[in-house]
Order: sequence, then structure tokens, then C-alpha cells
Amino acid sequence: MAKGTISETAVYAIKNPSSIREIMSLVTDFKKHPEKYPRPLIYLGGGWPQDPPPPVLKEVAKEVVEDDNTWIESSRYGTTRGQPDFINGIVNYEKYVFNRKILEEEVIVGSGSTELTAAFMLSILDPGTEVIITRPGYLNYPRQVQIETLLRCKIKRWTILRNHEFNPDFDELQEMISDKTRMLIICTPGNPDGQIYTDDMLNAINDIAEEKGIWVMVDVAYRTFIYEKPPSYFSRERSENEIWLCTLSKEFRIPGWRMAYAVADKELISAVETVEQARILCPNKMAQEILTRVLQDNKKLKSVKEYYEKGRDKYKKVAQYTTEELRNNIPDLGILEPRGGFYVFFDASKYEKSSKKLCNDLLKECQVALAPGIDFGMEGWLRLSFAPIVEEPETLKEGLNRMKEYFSKRK
Ligand SMILES: Cc1ncc(COP(=O)(O)O)c(C=O)c1O
Repeated sequence: MAKGTISETAVYAIKNPSSIREIMSLVTDFKKHPEKYPRPLIYLGGGWPQDPPPPVLKEVAKEVVEDDNTWIESSRYGTTRGQPDFINGIVNYEKYVFNRKILEEEVIVGSGSTELTAAFMLSILDPGTEVIITRPGYLNYPRQVQIETLLRCKIKRWTILRNHEFNPDFDELQEMISDKTRMLIICTPGNPDGQIYTDDMLNAINDIAEEKGIWVMVDVAYRTFIYEKPPSYFSRERSENEIWLCTLSKEFRIPGWRMAYAVADKELISAVETVEQARILCPNKMAQEILTRVLQDNKKLKSVKEYYEKGRDKYKKVAQYTTEELRNNIPDLGILEPRGGFYVFFDASKYEKSSKKLCNDLLKECQVALAPGIDFGMEGWLRLSFAPIVEEPETLKEGLNRMKEYFSKRK
């Protein structure tokens, strides 16, 4: 009897598991068997916010469920590109909250931005073509390129951090683009680095992209967590080759709902829509129905805007506290000052060159979970996410104390 086989892509995925997903399994294990661990685990690994979604979302969710018509209607299949009313709501949301003008025909809704990124990759990349990803960059992009293209595309890394500073080199970018390059992916504010491209930087990228004819995916997952005055591109119209990737996971604190949208060239959107017909049929209709009631209603959006403002202040304070504590208490870390998002990214290579080993040791010895920099393309660095305990200052303090103890022993 012969058993079926698995693909080379699956073998690649097995050999390169997502470390965040692995840490997540550990959290689950900790919840099930706390007795196995000497102290409660302090989880500073993943990027999901602890604070609840805006209260208005629960109110409208109840309305949708209680009304028989909307309950039944939103349980059925929807349109592939997203419900027209939801798309109309997105246009209103962009205008009301971000002061951005976008067009309905440039929008596609997806089941989270991870899923949309995959659909764009399938619509843009051919075997033998290339993608440029920043170094550091969000850990899932390279894995997605590999998986979505069945390991047939080349990934080039563009260094955006130099000497512990955010300092992308545009000549380097220009030089690394070949006639096979199809897209560049950037993230602003960045994961894991918390850095924000300036207007001049994004203009320089767009100039290069337009000259060379490549798409620029701009992932703005953390745009409502900017600690300073945001650059003007967050409210300007889309430039020609930009694909704006907007997830509601972080801004609405609903990562489990899997809701995101992209804004891009109309023809590209049609291509992605056709690809999505085969991939997902349609995005979650119930979630769209609930969100539509918020996004089309400026009174409700006002409360969302206030929620974002409060959230930004809260995350900024925690980011500053975390950065200062690390800086004042643990010598010889190269800390990058976050300007947005929920991470503090730092170079710990003076203690240990292998970031995976350092993460394992921190877990074993002081039950603090961080994410290894190697997965973001930066060996020797660590990413601390304060999002999962943003509402628990005492837990964060305890975590930072444990780290201090650990590093002082290693000295
Ligand atoms: C930069 C970035 N993009 C995308 C995602 C995934 O977002 P989604 O929940 O929309 O798939 C994450 C999740 O952490 C992220 O950090």
C-alpha cells in the first residue's frame, strides 16, 4: 500500500515554520499545563492587541444577529470583491478617519491582509520573477512568496537599517531591481522595527518603481499607531504603482475576524478578483455586514476615531516606557526607538549571536517569550511585542525585570 505524497512547497513550509505560530503553541501549552513552568509565562512574542475592539462594534453586531433578515442574508455567499455597501463604507472610512480619497473600483476586500497579500502575489508573480523585501521585514512575506509561487521566485532583501538607524539606501534599491523584479513590499510603521518612511522616502521609492515598472505594496497594518505627526502620504491619493494593504486586524483589534482590504490599480484589482474567485469565493459576509454599519455612519466613525486616538496614546506610552526600561537597565543593547506600532526591536548580539538561542534561553530561564530577529532577516536582534499585555503594566514590568536579571547574569 502506498501512501499519498506531499509537495515540495509543503516540505519547505514544514522546514521553515513560522516562529510566531510556534510561540503561539507554547502559549496554548502553558494555558493547558501551567504546572510545567516554574513561573507564569510572560508572552511578548506575537503582535495581537490585548485591548478589546471599539464598543460600537458589539452594538452593531447584536443588531445584525437579532434582525432575521440581516442574520440570514449575511450567512449566505457574497460577492468576491467584497459587498458593494462595505466597499462604499471603506471609501467613507478612508475619507472620514484618514482624510484620504479612494475610489470604489480600486478596492478589494479579503479575508485578512495575509490572504490578500497571497492573492496579489499570485496575480503579479510568475516563475523566475523576483520580489524585494526589506531587511528587516515582516516574517511572513518571504514565506508567502515561497509558498504562493511554489518556490519558483527569487527574494532579494533591501537593507533599511544601518548602524541601528532607519536609513534606507535608494541607490541600492535602484541597483537591485532587474528586469525580472515585479514587486517591492514595505511596511510603515514597520514590523518589526517600528520605523516610518518619510514622504521623501516614499516619493523616492515611487519614482524608482515607476521608472522600472514594478508594484510597491505598502502595508499600513499599524497606521493608527503612529506616535508622531504622520507623513502626508497617509492622507494623499494613491500613487500609480502603489498597492495599499489595509488590515482591520490591528486598528479595530479584530485579528480573529480576518478582515482587510487593498487599494490598487483598477486593472490589477480585477485580476486579483478573478484569482480570488477560485481561492476564497468571497470574504466573510457577516463581518462585512457588521462593519458596514460602522463605516457608513459618521457618528459611529467619530467614536472609532476617538478610540484610535486614545489607543495611540496608550501604545505610545507603553512603547516609551519599554524602550526606556531596556535602555536604562540592560547595557549594550542596540535599541531602535519605535515611532509607531507595537514593537521594540533591539540588537542583543553583544550577548549572543543567535537570536533563536537567545529566545529559547529567555523562555527556559525566565519564562519570557520574545520573537527572534533572524525570522525578520536580522540575526542577533530580538523583537519585543508589548501588544499582548498593553493593559497590564505590572506584567510588562515583571517581564522587563526578568529580562534584566537574565542579561545581567549573562554579562
Ligand atoms: C506587517 C503586518 N502585515 C500583515 C499582518 C497580518 O495581518 P492580517 O491579520 O490582516 O492577516 C501582520 C500581522 O502581524 C503584520 O504585522
